[in-house]
Amino acid sequence: MTLWSGRFASGPDETLWRFTTDDSDRRLLVDDVTGSLAHVDMLGEVGLLEVEAVARIRDGLEHVLDEAHAGRFEFRDTDEDIHTAVERRLGELIGDDAGRLHTGRSRNDQIALDLRLYLRRAVDHRVEQIQHLARVLVDQAEDAGDTIVASYTHLQQAQAIPFAHHLLAYAWMLVRDADRFVDARERIDISPLGAGASAGSALPLRPDRVAESLGFHATFGNSLDAVSSRDFASEYVFVTAQTMVHLSRLSEELALWATEEYAWAEYDDAYTTGSSALPHKKNPDIAELARGKAATVIGDLTGLLALQKGLPLSYNRDLQEDKRAVFHADDVLTTALAALTGMIETAEFDPPAPSSWVVALDLAEVLVARGVPFRDAHHSVGGLVARLKAEDRDFTTVTAEELEEAHPLLVPEDLDLLDPKGSVEARQSPRGGSFVSVAEQINELRTLLP
Ligand code: ARG
Repeated sequence: MTLWSGRFASGPDETLWRFTTDDSDRRLLVDDVTGSLAHVDMLGEVGLLEVEAVARIRDGLEHVLDEAHAGRFEFRDTDEDIHTAVERRLGELIGDDAGRLHTGRSRNDQIALDLRLYLRRAVDHRVEQIQHLARVLVDQAEDAGDTIVASYTHLQQAQAIPFAHHLLAYAWMLVRDADRFVDARERIDISPLGAGASAGSALPLRPDRVAESLGFHATFGNSLDAVSSRDFASEYVFVTAQTMVHLSRLSEELALWATEEYAWAEYDDAYTTGSSALPHKKNPDIAELARGKAATVIGDLTGLLALQKGLPLSYNRDLQEDKRAVFHADDVLTTALAALTGMIETAEFDPPAPSSWVVALDLAEVLVARGVPFRDAHHSVGGLVARLKAEDRDFTTVTAEELEEAHPLLVPEDLDLLDPKGSVEARQSPRGGSFVSVAEQINELRTLLP
């Protein structure tokens, strides 16, 4: 059944049907019915439908909703889209009154409404999931105690830091991702219903009443914009892609940490896979797939932006393609968050001590504290490093005499500085790699993560 057969002498060609219909909107079933319930109430309120008709349509829609919730709603190949499927089913249930539901409405404002309802709910779930993962990272940071690792720049060991500081960096990224979802919700949370096909209607509709009963904080400002803009969807997919990029960076590290070369982490059997060929292997596939799937979500975002860039006002059928990108991106993020949360929650982290070189800057800073210009201090410590390297030694074997040769202001007690733990303890920078900073961050993150 189509909703538009009136001006057509023949039915649609099979190839047209296959090309133009898309069943990805089926997951909007509940939102479509929810929107229709609000619409029919408004039609009754403004006197466009009689009380009895409203009651019959409502009954039918409630029935459809029950079928939807119970997974019993049956779609047909002849349903052009979700709106058609619901109206067809309503007709089967209540007869001719079903034809009154579409009064003052078009599928153009209806699909925009459905997608907004869907994404508004999705935001709330994604924020919860992201906060959960961030909490798991904070818990692991707390468990890491005084374990020390190197910070890295250019993938070279840089400075001594608490391992917790490294884990917490990801918690902060996730806090911002959750914030971005909350921000995006503001612009999703605007009702487009009442814009009609493009310019509204001659009927005395009350878009504000529909918006209010669906809990939207505002109604559209311009009907053409309302039916044709998808920036709210782009924004959702951008925030999704940005979150996936953060998960991808974390995943890259999770995979590295499980190597024999790093040996920082061991993952639970339930969150790793085996190799069909190599009996000894335990692979971090979750991390690799999160990294790989991030690429596909970036593709969803670029596809969605490209979809909109050449569209004249107002609604164009191209927009039907928005749903694949939105749903794919959302599904990937949903499953990646769940899988990574479990993987990290059950991981055992036990990183080995960093190389002795991670205290090099601390040694130079001792000289700075004694009045030596930083450039000279850097040069002296660099010279000592070069000498030790040439002899295939490191800071652990340096002697008091060698320190003094490196710079006359270095004294035997400075040998104590050549310990990564001492380096972390001496660090003063607010929110740098120190135990004080880690404790402050954990406190703050716990208040930011309900
Ligand atoms: N399936 C369409 C979409 O997803 C719904 C709106 C169709 N409107 C129309 N006039 N054909 O965008």
